[in-house]
Amino acid sequence: MKKIIKKVLLGLVFLIAIYGVGRFIDVSYGSLQFVKRQPYLVSQTQTSMAIKWQTPKSEVGKVLYGLSPDTLINVLNESETSKKHFLTLGKLNECTQYYYKVISPSLIIDNNGRHFRTLCKEKQTQRLWVIGDSGKVGANQREVYAQLYKYIKNDYKELDMWLLLGDNAYPSGTQKQFNKKLFKPFKELVKRYTPWAVAGNHDARRWAFYDIFDFPTNAEAGGVASLHEEFYSVEDANLHLIVLDSETISRAKDGDMAEWLRRDLRANKKPWVIVAFHTPPYSDGGHKSDSYWDSRGRLMDMRETFVPIFDEFGVDLVLSGHSHGYERSKLIINHLGKSDTFTQNNILQDRKTNYIKSAIKKKNSGTIYQVCGSSAKLDGATYNHPALPYSLEEMGSLIIELTPTTLTSKFLNINGKIADEFTITKTIRKK
Ligand SMILES: [Fe+2]
Repeated sequence: MKKIIKKVLLGLVFLIAIYGVGRFIDVSYGSLQFVKRQPYLVSQTQTSMAIKWQTPKSEVGKVLYGLSPDTLINVLNESETSKKHFLTLGKLNECTQYYYKVISPSLIIDNNGRHFRTLCKEKQTQRLWVIGDSGKVGANQREVYAQLYKYIKNDYKELDMWLLLGDNAYPSGTQKQFNKKLFKPFKELVKRYTPWAVAGNHDARRWAFYDIFDFPTNAEAGGVASLHEEFYSVEDANLHLIVLDSETISRAKDGDMAEWLRRDLRANKKPWVIVAFHTPPYSDGGHKSDSYWDSRGRLMDMRETFVPIFDEFGVDLVLSGHSHGYERSKLIINHLGKSDTFTQNNILQDRKTNYIKSAIKKKNSGTIYQVCGSSAKLDGATYNHPALPYSLEEMGSLIIELTPTTLTSKFLNINGKIADEFTITKTIRKK
């Protein structure tokens, strides 16, 4: 009998070892596999923009750029041959539109409509497009994108920033999947915008995410230096955007991310603060924020560690994905427990839209939480969280429009209808 048990145990250990080795090979291959890739933008700042691309042959490429499509008078050559290309255009003017073209001998490059603008110190109006859980190709992803295109009247200059709330390339975020699920369907966007992509749990299954994207670690795009690519801030005109990683890094109250967030929010001088991360602190739209087990407790972690910080600094808007639907709160504060502990006391302004906040940064001035994880997938769910009264089992994306005193967020559904909308106005009047 003992011999049989021993044999079974040895067999099990052998199977686990085979699985482990197989998994390691699969993860490494999916993460490191070389793929061709058209040029795309990363690391936007007020004075620079970086361009990356990947070619079948090792070679020297170059970028031509200038202030109009007909005057690409500046040329930047690479200094070494490589298949993985990276060039930073520096000494640019802030808040300025540039046009560019990439030349690389072994790759036929689509140079149509390549332009970008540098980050602005000031700008009267700005518009963001936000998609969540968008990494599944097909009619839904295409139609959600088509509705943005209609909304901006087929003119990309009407859009200032593109934010992705994670799960950007299902199912595992491999190099190949990123090409198929993000770079190909959104090829016109990656030419013109830095994809400010949040890491989702599906992106975290491989090591490709932080190889593909480059995020500011040293306050290059504004804010306080984070020294981590997983969390950082970007300042553009009226907006202080903070990106957190709810998946791969410590969510502890005394962790690097929480400590940095306090420092960054304390130093902020911009009128609007939006915080984006994948796993929502409140949700009943597929994932349940009441459950200790859902997503290994990440929903609860994000709520218990970070909501007190959002309250302390009066963060205006928190954006997440992960649940494949749409959910939205009123202006709320101080809710750290399960949904049955949410009461009227947590609601600061009990209305559907037209919230008012003081322009003076204040503790407990309220935050709106929005989940938009239905930009390519939709899950049937109960959508019954009391903190999220405006919830819809609909596909779509968010259009966020900012001025120095107003923030408007619209849920643009797959049929082109604004299915939910609110505005926060900041006044100098002390409330
Ligand atoms: Fe997810």
